[in-house]
Amino acid sequence: MISNGRVPVTAFNPPTFKGGKEGEIGAEGGERMAALSGQGTPKLTSAVGNLYYDSILPYREDANTQTREFLARVVDVLLDYVQQVNDRNEKILEFKMPEEMMKVLDLELHEEPLPLRQLLEDCKMTLKNQVKTGHPHFFNQLSCGLDIISLAGEWLTAAANTNMFTYEIAPVFILMENVVLQKMRSMIGWKTGDSILAPGGSVSNLYAFLAARHHKFPQYKEKGLTSIPGHLVMFTSDQCHYSVKSCASVCGLGTDYCVCVPSDERGKMIPTELERLVRYHKDRGNVPFFVNATSGTTVLGAFDPLTEIADICQKYDMWMHVDGILLSCNAMSAEYLFMTDKIYDPRYDTGDKCVLVLSFLGVAWCIVTNTVARCREVPGKSGGTSGFERLMDRLMELSEYMVRRIREQPDKFHLLLEPEMVNVSFWYLPRQLRGIPHDKHKELKLGKGKMMQAGTIMVGYQPDDRHPNYFRNIISSAAVTEKDVDFLLAEMDRLGQDIIVD
Ligand SMILES: Cc1ncc(COP(=O)(O)O)c(C=O)c1O
Repeated sequence: MISNGRVPVTAFNPPTFKGGKEGEIGAEGGERMAALSGQGTPKLTSAVGNLYYDSILPYREDANTQTREFLARVVDVLLDYVQQVNDRNEKILEFKMPEEMMKVLDLELHEEPLPLRQLLEDCKMTLKNQVKTGHPHFFNQLSCGLDIISLAGEWLTAAANTNMFTYEIAPVFILMENVVLQKMRSMIGWKTGDSILAPGGSVSNLYAFLAARHHKFPQYKEKGLTSIPGHLVMFTSDQCHYSVKSCASVCGLGTDYCVCVPSDERGKMIPTELERLVRYHKDRGNVPFFVNATSGTTVLGAFDPLTEIADICQKYDMWMHVDGILLSCNAMSAEYLFMTDKIYDPRYDTGDKCVLVLSFLGVAWCIVTNTVARCREVPGKSGGTSGFERLMDRLMELSEYMVRRIREQPDKFHLLLEPEMVNVSFWYLPRQLRGIPHDKHKELKLGKGKMMQAGTIMVGYQPDDRHPNYFRNIISSAAVTEKDVDFLLAEMDRLGQDIIVD
């Protein structure tokens, strides 16, 4: 009996049956029981499956039961998926070419609505053809792993369906964000400050660029380009994320004025090169104003030398931004939202901070967060800050384990460099290329080897400006164990040893 709306999603009011004696389960009842048993693929009873969107809430006030049944079956599909994601016997993906994928999915936008039954089938089909990024053998991206508590948080957030611009529209979330960001600022040693979460790293980098320009030329907001005496120049290492360069293109500098500073053999920006390039541009009348340093580059996981870069920024009065951690930004004061005569403290209306000023910072440090996508990495309630620390230690431990296992099999694998983070970059050596000394010539051949799409493991690969294609493995999922690392290396060898390279 549903009394308070807090019953588990699979517990439902028994159906009211028409016909038959009391206690007997009719055809529809049997169907419903099967649907509720939690066994087999989730199915809707025909009474609900044949309904359309306008026969449930909010269109039909009396359709609580039908709405619950539909949502509960969708949740069952999601729970089945969570189970599959964590099953090491399941494949990570059933790879299909786009043409083939188009055939198995019905992506047509129909004129007429579809019944709930079809929507449920579409949910199943979508997840069936999805890459299981939370699978313990998925090592492709930093954003891998399926954290169950975060998943619950995402579902809750979607149900709340609110915006984050004012306290009155999202009181709990606004306070929550404040507490989380205060904690993050304190973790990097700031006692004061202000921040908001940004929808990912690329936008955070753009915010930082805008904050830097506003800090140096506050009149830009009203006067635009005429307030800048010369051509702005920004600097970043040649290993930076591509979103940094896109700031120069979308904000009117032109990519020629996003100067790539050479990095050393470990992928770290070379500070003397930075200073040389800053001077070069100053001598030509340009205006160096912004340096992007990276803490954990995308491919090699390298950490730029922040202290040396900070000294150069201070010397030449440039904004220093670190791509990798926390955020900032400048009020546009949309009056219809951000009135100051609210009954509560309007500082809680954080939507106005989308693009804010950190003028209290002097020479200005802006540390930007790569959040929302990685919100689970923010110190949260479920694991506490100590849980977060333990997770990071564990991921580092597993990365070290992987490096050790690669070193123990020098005939099969060649490490590109000693990792600083959870990125492990290496080559796999097919049989044909074993026992030959490692040099540039061999690297070229390795870079041509075919990568595998068997669906049992997934690891990213790419070339960089110094090396041809190599694997970049990321361990950032709590699901991974030493056994999975061993499986990964053994599976690579199983799939790849016969590769022929010309
Ligand atoms: C160092 C760095 N900066 C920025 C980004 C972009 O982040 P997002 O994909 O969240 O926009 C990434 C993504 O991997 C990254 O590694």
